[in-house]
Amino acid sequence: MQVLQPITIGHTVFKNRVLFPPLTTGYEDADGNISPQSLAFYTRLAQGGTGYIVLGDVAPIRSFAVTPKLYDDSQIESFRRLADNLHAYGAKLGVQIFHPEYDCDALNALFDAGEMHKVRAQLHHDMAHFVNEVSEDALMVIIDKMCACARRAQLAGVDVIHIHGDRLVGALCSPLMNKRSDQFGGSLENRTRFALLLVQALKDAVPELLIEYKLPVITPERGKGGVPISEAPLFAQWLEAAGVHMLHVAQANHTGNLADTIPPMGVQPYCFFADITHAVKQAVTVPVSTSGRIIDPAMAEDMLTEGKADMIGIGRALLADPDWVNKAAAGRPQDICRCISCNEGCVDTVLNRSFIACVVNAENGFEAVRFITPAQQKKHVVVIGGGPAGLEAARVAAVKGHKVTLLEKNAYLGGQLNIASVPPRKLEIRRTIEDLTQANQALSVQIKLAHDATPESVLALAPDAVIIAVGATSFIPPIPGIDGANVCDAWQVLAGEQQAAGRVAIIGGGIVGCETAEYLAEQGCQVSIVDRLEQIGADIGATVLPSVLATFQTYGVAQYPRLTVTSIETHFETHIETITASNSATNTTLQCIDKQGKVVPIPCDFVVTASGARPVNLDTTLFNAQGIEVIKVGDCQQVADIAYAIKTAYDAANLL
Ligand SMILES: Cc1cc2nc3c(=O)[nH]c(=O)nc-3n(C[C@H](O)[C@H](O)[C@H](O)COP(=O)(O)O)c2cc1C
Ligand code: SF4
Repeated sequence: MQVLQPITIGHTVFKNRVLFPPLTTGYEDADGNISPQSLAFYTRLAQGGTGYIVLGDVAPIRSFAVTPKLYDDSQIESFRRLADNLHAYGAKLGVQIFHPEYDCDALNALFDAGEMHKVRAQLHHDMAHFVNEVSEDALMVIIDKMCACARRAQLAGVDVIHIHGDRLVGALCSPLMNKRSDQFGGSLENRTRFALLLVQALKDAVPELLIEYKLPVITPERGKGGVPISEAPLFAQWLEAAGVHMLHVAQANHTGNLADTIPPMGVQPYCFFADITHAVKQAVTVPVSTSGRIIDPAMAEDMLTEGKADMIGIGRALLADPDWVNKAAAGRPQDICRCISCNEGCVDTVLNRSFIACVVNAENGFEAVRFITPAQQKKHVVVIGGGPAGLEAARVAAVKGHKVTLLEKNAYLGGQLNIASVPPRKLEIRRTIEDLTQANQALSVQIKLAHDATPESVLALAPDAVIIAVGATSFIPPIPGIDGANVCDAWQVLAGEQQAAGRVAIIGGGIVGCETAEYLAEQGCQVSIVDRLEQIGADIGATVLPSVLATFQTYGVAQYPRLTVTSIETHFETHIETITASNSATNTTLQCIDKQGKVVPIPCDFVVTASGARPVNLDTTLFNAQGIEVIKVGDCQQVADIAYAIKTAYDAANLL
């Protein structure tokens, strides 16, 4: 495979074409040093075969942002440990040096004084105006700081200085953001002057290191910080002429919507930046890479064989499986645990000032402390339930060396993921069902479908340990009128077991309610959503919410936050005996009250409840009486999400 072939750039040989693009992880210490968590994460990537790893958003200055920082010589040592670890596995290390688009010194002073409201106000102002207000002298000081950072990186043994062409640099390059009238504004030549001066200064500062430039491209639909498609090939040529050794072409950001650069599932096609990268590649002779929804080795290989890029950035997909390269090299790409582009465990966590912890990979973010240990004593483990928790528990138990039997009451695996994949844009969730099924099959887990486990049927299998992963059932709120014939349950609607039509009022504006609303709206229903909370969709991630709201806008989904449902009142037409989609001319009202006690009636034909879930309880008395180890995992232990299902299952099985 081409993706596994080495590539030589300058005097540096990259052992394969796979690069981990810059990703702010939140793993570093508050002072920006490489923490043990960060070290373990990147080392694990190198161990899994990734040839080139770029450390995202390395600040050349003291800042309060949760990124790595290299502004002081005392920090070199922690970066050196990282470089040494990666080199031990034959991987190369790049650091992405960036400068934020705000006045760091001014903000630091406010931050140190604890004046957080002023910090927020200044930040808000600077994000739009700093690019135009920063003086030429201050820009030269920023270049000096970036060069000092690069020198420290060189002392640490870093191989590549990766210039972050977005943030301040991209804002300066951008015709949309840069409104300066001096030599740094106006024409493409002026707008890119800072970037090219920076390249030149870095080449002088660290002449032995490779210089890579992240070239963010503004597309007609998305992005602000960078250059438009029409200017990208010419700018790339100028960068090459300035001595840049490699280019990383990516979607420009700076719109406040991270879905632009890090699209969640269903929003952008796979490999969505391939053609723009190709256009840049044709204009230059230096190697060009890109990233963006390149999920599996076949996609990467296609891009290389079609000549669209020379190296392939695999970001989130390496969080989901750090052994991506090694599995491809072993000819077993089907064993890769694939990213589902949910953005929950990576983007949302970092936005919440936490650290990346991929929802489908329990080890991610915990590489030093969470790994599968071989079983001390081989046991027969019976897992009840074939949803994500049950499948993950079975997988981990089997990897440990146990004999595993998995019982699933349905004729298919995947549990709630099956209905979670039904709403618009959510189909990619099915990858997790496929990958966990594949993993269990490859490990020879005995899977019994359509087996409704009873304590007796489980005991008949003579288990040493039982893992219960029987999930949850949807909660039906105790509202007068809830048992009406035209009241449906969101899970059953998504499963195709119940139909709603016409005017549909959904009780519950969480993620299930919102996604059911999208699903029904696309089917032609006129949908309203009611919730007690201040905001509909409050639990939906920042990169997904804009798409949900866009669907609501398209189909006119009415949102009623801050309402409590008091009753469902239905007056049937006397000649109608059975409510169906075609004769739904009933006279139903969802009666609600607002916070002031005012009655708000919502007329509808169907009501759909999306009011949360409750754990399914399975009687374990017989197992306990026999001294069999019993552990509950996932939703049946505590109703949560796929991340919780996977992590509790992994940990429980790993303890056996
Ligand atoms: C959690 C997270 C943090 C990111 N941080 C950075 C960053 O610091 N610098 C940067 O240039 N890109 C950043 N990106 C964008 C990635 O480099 C990459 O372009 C994007 O994730 C698309 O590639 P993928 O689909 O392979 O993940 C980040 C992406 C994620 C998911
Ligand atoms: S959390 Fe979701 S999007 Fe992020 S890496 Fe994991 S599967 Fe991919």
